Amino acid sequence: MSDGHTSLIPDLSASKAGQSRRKFLQGAGFAAGALALGLPRRARAADRTEITFASAKFFGKETVGQVVDAYNQAQSKVHVTYIELPPPSSSTEVHQALVQQLARRNGTPDVFTQDVVWIAEFAGAGWAMALDEYFNPSVQSQYFPGLIAACTYNSKLTALPWFVDSGMLYYRKDLLDGAGAKPPETWDDLVTIAQGIQKSGKADFGYLWQGKQAEVLVCDLVEAIASNGGSILTSDGKKGALNDDKAVAAVQFLYDTINKSKISPSDVLSWDEEPSRQPFTAGRAAFLRNWSYVYGIAQDKSASSVVDKVGVVPLPHFAGGKSAACLGGYQYGINAASKNKEAAVDFLTWMSSPETQLHFALQLGIAPTRPEVFDNAQLGKEQPFMQQLKSVFTGATPRPVTPKYAQVTLAIQSGVSKALVSGNIKAELDAANEKITSIVAG
Ligand code: GLC
Repeated sequence: MSDGHTSLIPDLSASKAGQSRRKFLQGAGFAAGALALGLPRRARAADRTEITFASAKFFGKETVGQVVDAYNQAQSKVHVTYIELPPPSSSTEVHQALVQQLARRNGTPDVFTQDVVWIAEFAGAGWAMALDEYFNPSVQSQYFPGLIAACTYNSKLTALPWFVDSGMLYYRKDLLDGAGAKPPETWDDLVTIAQGIQKSGKADFGYLWQGKQAEVLVCDLVEAIASNGGSILTSDGKKGALNDDKAVAAVQFLYDTINKSKISPSDVLSWDEEPSRQPFTAGRAAFLRNWSYVYGIAQDKSASSVVDKVGVVPLPHFAGGKSAACLGGYQYGINAASKNKEAAVDFLTWMSSPETQLHFALQLGIAPTRPEVFDNAQLGKEQPFMQQLKSVFTGATPRPVTPKYAQVTLAIQSGVSKALVSGNIKAELDAANEKITSIVAG
């Protein structure tokens, strides 16, 4: 971290991000005087407790590492070393890195962030410490109740909500206006509008989504199936439901976007979040399914040719169904083998404070898990879609909740991928469903 202070000074000098960061540091109690004088940041005093923090890499106007730096400067008891893992779109890799480390039970990392789908596994294995003692019911009541429920395993709070995410539909306001169309409510509407815009030559692609054999495919799948009234597992969670009529029709629809309605390029089968986002913010597509981080990029002149032309609405549904968004997002956890639990709690208390949550929302475009911050006026101005879609975030559909999720997701990814490539949808979903049932029943 010896380069921390040299990179900090220019950061704070001119840019807008720098100014807001300075405010953040002041709010965090950092001695602004020392900064103004150009004094080196507080030395890593011998009496500081050293802890490590591992997280998937998130980006925006700032990095997670810079926020961790701000904590290090805000107080003098704890020093956090940040370990950056791959981005969340490389979910399998991030999961593997955490599992390898946590399974050693040697206390590293002391603190980590976890995708919502790993909470049951990490708690079930005894890797994630119960947090109830430190974050009591009155603290928990400051969060969206559904997220606290998602962080609770066997009646213990084993994770603390960091940010909440959900799938949503980005659309080009200018192109829809030009076509005299309103944002679509059903998948049929979306196909009609997309085809019309493609025909007019105003966009190369109608609809971009994520069909890569990766975690995000499961998210797109949950949305399609749930918007047809289906689900991945039966309601008792004991069997797969992936070959039910409703699920088969949903996968058929995804297949048809490439092969029949041709609103999606076959490239979507190898795209996760970023490759699908890029043509959209380059102005080449009418619609995109993605997470909240895209909005800030779409509004950034240096990265987007569609500034002020993008709207966000809930995803469409099948006739007779209801819009569904996949529940995403990351949570904090403390390693049950950590030797520095008090320091870890101090760090998490700061990371999860309303001020830090607001900072993350404004700088990284990720949605707060505290209603108080979600409703913040400045956030409403800078990221208006979040408050407009509040019910989408709070009512999102979870992926299967099971300690065996890591196996379930691989079976889904592989089976659905084969179905989308071959078009043998029922046969591939039958086979995948059998695997899923044997995993959840076994
Ligand atoms: C987003 C979501 C996460 C999901 C991942 C898939 O990062 O927050 O829950 O697993 O995308 O790529």
